[in-house]
Amino acid sequence: NPRLITQLSREPLRAFQFGRGGCRRGLKVAVVGAGGGIGQPLSLLLKQNPHISTLSLHDLKNTPGVAADLSHINTRATVCAFEGKDGLKKAMDKADIVVVPAGMPRKPGMKREDLVGVNASVACEVAFAASDACPGALLAFITNPINVIVPIVATILKAKGTYDPNRLFGVTSLDVVRAKAFVGDFLNVDPQTVDVPVIGGHTGRTILPILSQCDPPYKGTDEEREALIHRIQEAGTEVVKAKDGLGSATLSMAYAASSFVNSLIKGIKGSDGDECIVECAYVESDVTEAKFFATPLILGPQGIKDNIGLPELDDVEKQALDCMLPILKESIEKGIKLGEDMV
Ligand code: LMR
Repeated sequence: NPRLITQLSREPLRAFQFGRGGCRRGLKVAVVGAGGGIGQPLSLLLKQNPHISTLSLHDLKNTPGVAADLSHINTRATVCAFEGKDGLKKAMDKADIVVVPAGMPRKPGMKREDLVGVNASVACEVAFAASDACPGALLAFITNPINVIVPIVATILKAKGTYDPNRLFGVTSLDVVRAKAFVGDFLNVDPQTVDVPVIGGHTGRTILPILSQCDPPYKGTDEEREALIHRIQEAGTEVVKAKDGLGSATLSMAYAASSFVNSLIKGIKGSDGDECIVECAYVESDVTEAKFFATPLILGPQGIKDNIGLPELDDVEKQALDCMLPILKESIEKGIKLGEDMV
């Protein structure tokens, strides 16, 4: 097929068993938007996961070069490249996980919401194609504005009869990564040892780090705490400004998204012993009055195994939650309406 630009194939390694009672085969992970600023480093990081047997890269262009480059790395995954609209379904065919960094990034002065017009149609195409190509896959969207994009995709999948709320995720792990980095800095401890839940959505005041539940405990003054929360909420804009017209966060986003996909994979293959795989992500939810909301989730073979719900909140955090809910609900209604218009 001429659309299949290149398939850098070698015989996939024989399936082997991962852990007791776990997944017996390697997994196929598709990256949609693999030629872009997030997609390339994300693919590099995923190429290092030994449980991925096929890493399938899609973009409108650039994937053959990226795939050729990655295929020289001596790790398990076979790398396939697909281009163009018609390559989309082929790239996702029978994928176990689809991760989507496709879409336009912000420029200085733009809000994430300003990207809806251009990025909604990208997400919509992916949702339609995924319904046909890999209806049981776990879908992880990075495309902004996440608060609107995930409800759009859910609405499309519902119309196609392939929606499973446990399998659709808006990737908000960069907010957690940032919270850990900034808290680690503040407390002068290794940020890898910091644990802090971030709930809500993925823009401005809808990003709510729950510092009262931070481990190790966060001990700042009220002013310091307010400044830290504000920095986490505006960290994406900090990068957009620093890149000065050359886009938004790519490397930290790739790191955060690959960690999230690695956790999805751990969930699929089954944890060893009592280990719980927990990640915060923006999903369909009945935890608050917002129909989609990010909270800590326990991941399992079918995606979400359990929604842990709201962490304990102090009074300031309760107030912040009350403030964000109308903003989030408006974005969700907008997403559902846009999704309905697209089906
Ligand atoms: C981020 O948080 O860095 C991303 O959502 C990109 C952006 O536009 O801020």
